[in-house]
Amino acid sequence: MSKPLNFGIIGYGFMGRAHSNAYRKVNNFFDLPSHPVLKAACARDKDKVKAFADKWGYESVETDWRKLLERKDIDAIDICTPNNTHAEIAIAAAQAGKMILCEKPLAMNGPEGLKMVQAVEKAKVPNIVWYNYRRVPAVTLAKQLVDEGKLGKIFHYRANFLQDWTISADLPQGGAGLWRLDVAAAGSGVTGDLLAHCIDTAIWLNGGIATLSAMTETFIKERKHTLTGKVEKVGIDDACSFFCRFQNGSLGLFESTRYARGHKALYTFEINGEHASIKWDLHDLHRLEYFDHRDQGILRGWRSIHVTDGDHPYMGKWWVPGLQIGYEHSFVHQVADFLEGLGKGQAVQPDFRNAYQTQLVLDAILDSAKNRKWTEVARG
Ligand SMILES: NC(=O)c1ccc[n+]([C@@H]2O[C@H](COP(=O)([O-])OP(=O)(O)OC[C@H]3O[C@@H](n4cnc5c(N)ncnc54)[C@H](O)[C@@H]3O)[C@@H](O)[C@H]2O)c1
Repeated sequence: MSKPLNFGIIGYGFMGRAHSNAYRKVNNFFDLPSHPVLKAACARDKDKVKAFADKWGYESVETDWRKLLERKDIDAIDICTPNNTHAEIAIAAAQAGKMILCEKPLAMNGPEGLKMVQAVEKAKVPNIVWYNYRRVPAVTLAKQLVDEGKLGKIFHYRANFLQDWTISADLPQGGAGLWRLDVAAAGSGVTGDLLAHCIDTAIWLNGGIATLSAMTETFIKERKHTLTGKVEKVGIDDACSFFCRFQNGSLGLFESTRYARGHKALYTFEINGEHASIKWDLHDLHRLEYFDHRDQGILRGWRSIHVTDGDHPYMGKWWVPGLQIGYEHSFVHQVADFLEGLGKGQAVQPDFRNAYQTQLVLDAILDSAKNRKWTEVARG
């Protein structure tokens, strides 16, 4: 019999929905030692959070996250709020003895992230960060191939995350839906928002980043602030590119922007090794491209692997071979792994300490861009 685990979610936006969907579906597809009970949803606007709770099946609502943390009937806190709220909520949740699932990036910066790591480790509460792309089956398969040594020595890692939604100078900054443009709420622009995902995947697949050189640009310098009504300086980076050296000696090249007309969420990566290369594209997320130089010469070429067979990661739990799944399933997989780990008493990655590594890279990027110099990534 699976045990009930009572969840309290904070934030009902994009991620509030993605996570709630995962909690509702996970036990229909995975056999797990526990099952999420949607106990409470929390956000500041009572009517909106009530509407969200009714739609997704939460039993109750709170409008102050501190009240949620005081509740004895809540086992796990899910933080789906803007970046500037993660640390305060997570540290208080750890002190209240709750397990924590926190959205990415872990924190606004490294020092804040370290305090969060120390809080969960001191309280010994299970914790995880939602770097969900690790659990797209084709990306998990990439990890399997790298770990099996199929690529051999790795020479290059390349990643992009391109969008085009902030090109208009009339778009305001701050407030609901636009907090990502407000440095006080987001901490940084595309660096903490989009590159954070690329960096987490890269560290997972190819190991730590040792040193890097970055440049950032803010194309639109001033925008009206939704909360103050005034035109204010824009403090986030609209675009960021960096190149780096990994600890294993391979070279990395990363680019992210919200000014690439025509691209909505083009996350791609490619890894080139001594024997083989792999590449992946979020727009075609169920495929992994693979080239193996050891193939017979006349047959050598890029294979497009449709990652939908029963022996592909996670796929045996879904439909039948050949039928693909999508974006939302990466969140279902994360919940499944988290619950599985809880049952075994094992930490599931990326936990706070693991996600802190990405935070240190983000700090190094912003430092390098600001000071126009190569920067060593601090070791966490
Ligand atoms: N893993 C991913 O792929 C992914 C994707 C998108 C966003 N994110 C991360 O998830 C977090 C939320 O992003 P989003 O896109 O869901 O944002 P969103 O704007 O859609 O939703 C934010 C929610 O937080 C609530 N909120 C804000 N301040 C609050 C407070 N003090 N107390 C309670 N509720 C508060 C808002 O009312 C809203 O419900 C961010 O950290 C973001 O970086 C991760």
